[in-house]
Amino acid sequence: MTSLFDSFPLGGLTLPNRTVMAPMSRVRAAAGGLATPSMATYYAQRATAGLIVSEGVQPSLVGQSNPGTPGLHTDEQVTAWRPVTAAVHANGGRIFAQIMHGGRVSHPDTTGTRPVGPSAVPAVGDVFTPTGLQPAPTPRALETAEVPEHALSYARAARRAVDAGFDGVELHGANGYLISQFLSSNANLRTDLYGGSVANRIRFAIEAVSATVEAVGAARTGIRLSPAGTFWGVEESDVPELYAELLTELSRLDLAYVHVEATADEDVLVGLRRAWPGALIMNPVLPMGPKQTGREDADHWLGLGADLISFGRGFIANPDLVERLRTGLPVAPVDEATYYQGGDAGYLTYPAYQHTV
Ligand SMILES: Cc1cc2nc3c(=O)[nH]c(=O)nc-3n(C[C@H](O)[C@H](O)[C@H](O)COP(=O)(O)O)c2cc1C
Repeated sequence: MTSLFDSFPLGGLTLPNRTVMAPMSRVRAAAGGLATPSMATYYAQRATAGLIVSEGVQPSLVGQSNPGTPGLHTDEQVTAWRPVTAAVHANGGRIFAQIMHGGRVSHPDTTGTRPVGPSAVPAVGDVFTPTGLQPAPTPRALETAEVPEHALSYARAARRAVDAGFDGVELHGANGYLISQFLSSNANLRTDLYGGSVANRIRFAIEAVSATVEAVGAARTGIRLSPAGTFWGVEESDVPELYAELLTELSRLDLAYVHVEATADEDVLVGLRRAWPGALIMNPVLPMGPKQTGREDADHWLGLGADLISFGRGFIANPDLVERLRTGLPVAPVDEATYYQGGDAGYLTYPAYQHTV
C-alpha cells in the first residue's frame, strides 16, 4: 500500500513524501501586503513537508479578504516574497502560493474599496477589518464585461509568484471565496453566461485556471475545492454534477493537482477521485473541530486513492510534523489564540520534538 512517506512526482517536482502543509492565513504581513523575515523563518522551519502551500495571497487590492494578508500584485510584494521562497528552497523544501480572491468576503475598511461578487448578496457572518469584526457588506455585482478581468488577476498573480521564486500556485476555489461564490447557487444569482446552469457556474473557475495555465504552465497550477462546503453561507445545488463537470473540464488542462477538502460525503468524494485522472491532494478533516488531521486519516485517504494528504493545524504546532508522523512521536496541540494575533509567539516558537535521555 502507498505510504505517506513515499515520494511522489508532482508537476515538474519530486516530492520526498506525500504530506502537504495546507494553506493557512496567519495575517502577519507588513503594510502594503509585504512578506516579512518572520514569514521566511516560519515556512523554512516547515520545509520537510513534501509541499508547502502558502497562506492565501491576494491577487489584487479588491481581492484582499483579511487585514494583514500578503499580496502578489505589486513589484514590492514580489521582492518581499523572494527571501521566503529562497529560505524554503535552502532548507530543501518546495512551496506553492495560494492565490485567494476574497470576493464578497471583504470590507471597504480593509481595502478602501467596495467588495465585488457574482451577485449583490452578502456573505453570512462577520468579516475581519482593521477595527475588528463587522457584518459582511453587500458586494457590488460584477458586470459581465468585468468578470474576465478578475479571472485574469489570478494569472497575473501567478506570473508574479513564479517571478518571486514560488514553485507554482494553487487557486483558492474553496471556502466561500470568489471562485467558490461563482460555483454557488445562492451567492451566484446571475442570469448571464456566468450563472444559472452548472456549465455557467463553473465558467469563472475554468477561465481563471485556463488563464493561469497559459501564464505559468499547467505543471505549476493547482486548484483547491470544497465540494458542498457552506463557508460564509455559500450553498451549492447539484454537487455531484457540478464537481464532475468542473473536474472534466479541468482534466483537459493537465494541472499539477486538485486539492479537495472532505466537505462532502465520502461516497461523493470517492466519485470525484474517480472523475479526476491527475494528482489529488485530500484534506481529510472538515468541518474544523477539535479533531485535527492525523496519521489514520492520512492512511484512510491514501487507501481510497488520494495521492497526497494535507495537514493544517498539525503543521502550525509541529514544524517537524513529517518526522513525528514517520516515527510515531507525539503531535503537539495547536494554540488557537495565536492563529491571527501577529508577532512571532505561536508562530516561530513551536519547537521540533525535544528528545530526552
Ligand atoms: C489558522 C488557519 C488559517 C487558515 N487559512 C486558510 C487559507 O488561507 N486558505 C485555505 O484554503 N484554507 C485555510 N485554512 C484551512 C486549512 O487549510 C485546513 O483546511 C483546515 O485547517 C483543516 O485541516 P486540519 O484539520 O489538518 O487543520 C486555515 C485554517 C487555519 C487553522
